[in-house]
Amino acid sequence: MKITGVIASPRGKKGNTYPLLIAALTGAEDEGAETEIINIAKSDINYCTGCLKCFKSGKCIYDDDFEKVFSKLMESDGIIFASPNYINSVTGQMKTFFDRMADAIHCQMFEGKYGFSISTAGGSGAGEVSEYMNQTLRVLGADTTGHIGMDIAEAEEGFKPWEERAYEEGQKLASAIKNNDKYPEQEEFHKYMQERMENLILANKKEWKHEYKHLKKKKGE
Ligand SMILES: Cc1cc2nc3c(=O)[nH]c(=O)nc-3n(C[C@H](O)[C@H](O)[C@H](O)COP(=O)(O)O)c2cc1C
Repeated sequence: MKITGVIASPRGKKGNTYPLLIAALTGAEDEGAETEIINIAKSDINYCTGCLKCFKSGKCIYDDDFEKVFSKLMESDGIIFASPNYINSVTGQMKTFFDRMADAIHCQMFEGKYGFSISTAGGSGAGEVSEYMNQTLRVLGADTTGHIGMDIAEAEEGFKPWEERAYEEGQKLASAIKNNDKYPEQEEFHKYMQERMENLILANKKEWKHEYKHLKKKKGE
């Protein structure tokens, strides 16, 4: 079982979000997972230009670090997204990474995977930011098992209880993978997304050759 943590804090190991990610990955390791951390704020990932070439060829026009990071996620059973709250959202680095996954969303490439998200905020909004990242995981096809949103100004007892919560969420993620847990509400959402994406690909099948090929392969045609 492989679980990868993708963090997008420019402050990296010196930041507030990193220790929560470490605690989550430690929890996952204690449940038998092999783990890895990638800090995409230290990677070279370009903005999506909206050229739609990836829909057609499965490849981006840029030869940067995106593909390397994305293939690590494809090899993972579990994914943890971690980002500080920057102006009530994820950091620009995380959003840039998300924008590069429109093809992956059409193809529902995280189907069968599990994940959850972690955010810290100086004042407020960490819960909303982690829920936004969870939504991205679900839109990609993954099931989400929980989330951690720590508003530092409100955390009177400091980091320790939050690290404990993150540790438990890491354990929960690994256990969901092991037991192939199912969540009826999320199953319904995945069914809706699969149908919507399938119809979108079929409507554009002449242009979006890579996505059409992917869909046919998935359906065993
Ligand atoms: C550019 C920038 C924008 C921020 N925006 C917010 C915000 O909208 N709300 C908030 O509560 N904290 C905000 N913060 C504070 C960070 O969310 C907080 O310090 C966070 O824990 C940083 O995580 P890190 O140390 O892992 O990078 C912002 C910090 C920076 C540098």
